[in-house]
Amino acid sequence: MILPIFLYGHPVLRKVTKDIPLDYPNLKTLLDNMFETMYNAEGVGLAAPQIGLEDRILVIDLSPLADEDPSFMHFKKVFINAHIIEKEGEEASIEEGCLSIPTIHEKVSRKNSIRIRYLDENLQPHDEVYEGYKARVIQHEYDHLEGIMFVDLIPGIRKQIIRSKLNKIMKGDVNCSYKIKPLSRK
Ligand code: NI
Repeated sequence: MILPIFLYGHPVLRKVTKDIPLDYPNLKTLLDNMFETMYNAEGVGLAAPQIGLEDRILVIDLSPLADEDPSFMHFKKVFINAHIIEKEGEEASIEEGCLSIPTIHEKVSRKNSIRIRYLDENLQPHDEVYEGYKARVIQHEYDHLEGIMFVDLIPGIRKQIIRSKLNKIMKGDVNCSYKIKPLSRK
């Protein structure tokens, strides 16, 4: 089922998410819905707050970008109860976008390497290191689990420039090919 994506300004996007219990009901359905919602919006990552949930879950599928890097082809992953325990390496500044902030793209500086602990879709535990673009996408989605959005991480001057666009997005006044849920629409 395709779910509406909550837009910038909605308070659920500012919540620090909680670990889910291992007997979380209908987890498989939730994960399927998250992937379907993400694919429909042509995104490569989605975090649970973006569909209005305060659960510590994110999904990623980099296969649409496999032309850029063949290792993206099978990079379809679920991160449940995710916790980044280390960030290191050089910082790189690369343009990002977000399904909750349509039409805005800004350069964001992030570390090159992360170490993350999480459960996969079968609730098996992992402790892994990721680098480069994979680490970037994981960090972007992980920030959503901490109530952080990428526009928080850009320089103040850039934020001032996009302020009026952000105000419009908060009101749902934005062109979007997918179902959205701005703050004003109950
Ligand atoms: Ni995002």
